[in-house]
Amino acid sequence: MKIVITGAGGQLGKALIQLFTDKDYEVFPYNKQQLDITNRTNIKEILDKIQPDFLINTAAFTQVDLCETEIEKAYLINGIGPYYLASETKEKKIRFFHISTDYVFSGEKLTPYLEEDSPGPKTIYGKSKQLGEALALATYENTTIIRTSWLYGHGGNNFVNTIKKLANYSQEIRVVYDQYGCPTYTKDIGIVLKQLLTKPSGIYHVANSGSCSWFELAKEIISFLNKRVNIIPVSSKEYGVKTPRPKYSVLSPKKLNSNGIFLQDWKEGLHEYLKKEAGSSEY
Ligand SMILES: NC(=O)c1ccc[n+]([C@@H]2O[C@H](COP(=O)([O-])OP(=O)(O)OC[C@H]3O[C@@H](n4cnc5c(N)ncnc54)[C@H](OP(=O)(O)O)[C@@H]3O)[C@@H](O)[C@H]2O)c1
Repeated sequence: MKIVITGAGGQLGKALIQLFTDKDYEVFPYNKQQLDITNRTNIKEILDKIQPDFLINTAAFTQVDLCETEIEKAYLINGIGPYYLASETKEKKIRFFHISTDYVFSGEKLTPYLEEDSPGPKTIYGKSKQLGEALALATYENTTIIRTSWLYGHGGNNFVNTIKKLANYSQEIRVVYDQYGCPTYTKDIGIVLKQLLTKPSGIYHVANSGSCSWFELAKEIISFLNKRVNIIPVSSKEYGVKTPRPKYSVLSPKKLNSNGIFLQDWKEGLHEYLKKEAGSSEY
């Protein structure tokens, strides 16, 4: 089976290339320079050439603060890009998988978000990602939206790697305690994606199980690394967060579980990731 992966230079893209590179799949990864998802002709030409069975879109403009000022760019990449991909995959009868985010929710709920909960994004990033979801679903019935959250993966810019780096030279790190979510290992999304290739299209929430605050996540990283660093809990306000994130964007695994798919707990995922980072020169 042939799989085109867009956004292949990003942290999730890199993980998917590794996971799908086996005897069952032929992987065709494209980074931004090779396939710009806002360029319809570019998409058409590549799909005509490869004729894949699946297209997985991990490409996005993911810098939440920058999206607030580069609004047009955010809507173009996160909103219109997925629409182009849905249109072109529809024409060629290719199954379309699009990665989305917990930030499509407002964060006002007190229990985990279900797939059928109404989105209510507050940030431009969340709004532009919601537009991408809506356009793709309205354009092509064979679209699968995978909402995930708080990603970390090898070779990526992410919270876990930032804390790891800071722990090498800081004695104190201030971390917000009033935002809750599900930290998720990119490798685990890949494992689930393989299983979703044969499931019905639609929206799925895919995140490591359980939830925590950024503060609790930082504490777990430091404790695993056995570093003598004091993690100071601060509110988002005290921290001076530029763009308010959802307070609570925990994704419910119910639908996934009812399809017989289960992800490991966030602490197990984190430990596995940190062990691999420490133990292998490959990472
Ligand atoms: N990171 C998270 O915590 C998180 C949480 C929830 C959901 N998600 C979603 O998960 C997906 C993957 O995220 P990630 O963490 O892997 O992000 P990432 O590391 O920022 O990767 C995104 C990739 O897309 C590329 N890109 C940007 N504009 C493009 C375009 N027009 N055409 C093709 N490629 C383009 C980027 O290239 P440049 O860097 O060169 O611009 C980057 O390599 C995204 O859909 C994101 O919204 C992420």
